[in-house]
Amino acid sequence: MTLSDPNNILAGAFADLDSGNLKSSSDSPSESKSEIRNEFAVRRATLDDSLMLESIEREAFPGMTPVTRIERDLTRQNGLYLAAIRNWQPDEQELGPRFAIATKAEKEDESFTARMRRNVDRYLLDRVNRPKLPPDYIAGFVGLWFVLDEAHVVIIGLRESDRRKGIGEQLLISAVEQSFENDSRVVTLEVRESNEPAIELYKKYGFQEVGLRRRYYSDNGENAVIMTTPPIQSDDYQKQFTELVEQHADKWGWVSRPGFAAPEGYVEEDETKGESEASDSTSADGDESESKPEIEA
Ligand SMILES: CC(C)(COP(=O)(O)OP(=O)(O)OC[C@H]1O[C@@H](n2cnc3c(N)ncnc32)[C@H](O)[C@@H]1OP(=O)(O)O)[C@@H](O)C(=O)NCCC(=O)NCCS
Repeated sequence: MTLSDPNNILAGAFADLDSGNLKSSSDSPSESKSEIRNEFAVRRATLDDSLMLESIEREAFPGMTPVTRIERDLTRQNGLYLAAIRNWQPDEQELGPRFAIATKAEKEDESFTARMRRNVDRYLLDRVNRPKLPPDYIAGFVGLWFVLDEAHVVIIGLRESDRRKGIGEQLLISAVEQSFENDSRVVTLEVRESNEPAIELYKKYGFQEVGLRRRYYSDNGENAVIMTTPPIQSDDYQKQFTELVEQHADKWGWVSRPGFAAPEGYVEEDETKGESEASDSTSADGDESESKPEIEA
């Protein structure tokens, strides 16, 4: 069963969304944002995004040697990377590509060397050898590997400034949707046992703790918890998932994503802001083989 299967309850729910008939699951429909388009969209990541994805990886997992090999993963036959994107803002573009994609720590480093490097980048290197700005601003991304009948979330991470805005949840929703489409049986991942925000997110989507990998992370020897969903094609899971997707749209607005473009007529968030203002005056151990990297998701 796939999302495009008319018997699929998810397909039914999304058909409602497509026709703009979605009934809000919230008690106060007037507060629902499900007919507003979120400023972020999710799309498949490409090699043009790789510099920015690497920068996000450095920001999301500071102090770690890169946990994935993004460029290689972007071209893996059984891999899928999804990015949460929005348009660049003019002031971000003006700063030049090197600064625009830098991590928060790199931007805020006030040491003499860092300031010198930023000036050299901006006033010299950007002029003589200007790298191409990635096509979109990327807030975060999720990486999936499809192995046999399982979908493995190998990485999920966001820029610090973009957290707690429902974007990580949207990336996970999109990852599960793509796993449905791939006919995967379950979605699975490993997470540091101290990573409460991520564990809470996964639990919300039905992931259960099914095992422990002792001293899995090489930087501090922390254990990894293995978390796995129940069978995602089951009616029970799809019902639970559909409700969560509806709640997410109610809270954050509709997010365009692979297979679910925002229907025409959906209002951009900026437009509604304008209206309301007018009327009543936000594995490091992985190798080149098929073995999984030290998973950070
Ligand atoms: C984990 C991460 C992806 C969550 O993304 P996010 O966009 O900030 O999360 P969202 O705003 O979408 O929140 C969705 C849910 O996640 C959970 N959550 C997110 N941040 C949380 C926090 N600080 N504390 C507790 N729960 C949190 C909640 O269940 C939340 O649902 P709610 O809004 O109904 O409470 C993000 O914190 C991140 O990039 N962290 C650094 C990298 C990382 O640790 N990746 C995971 C590796 S396994």
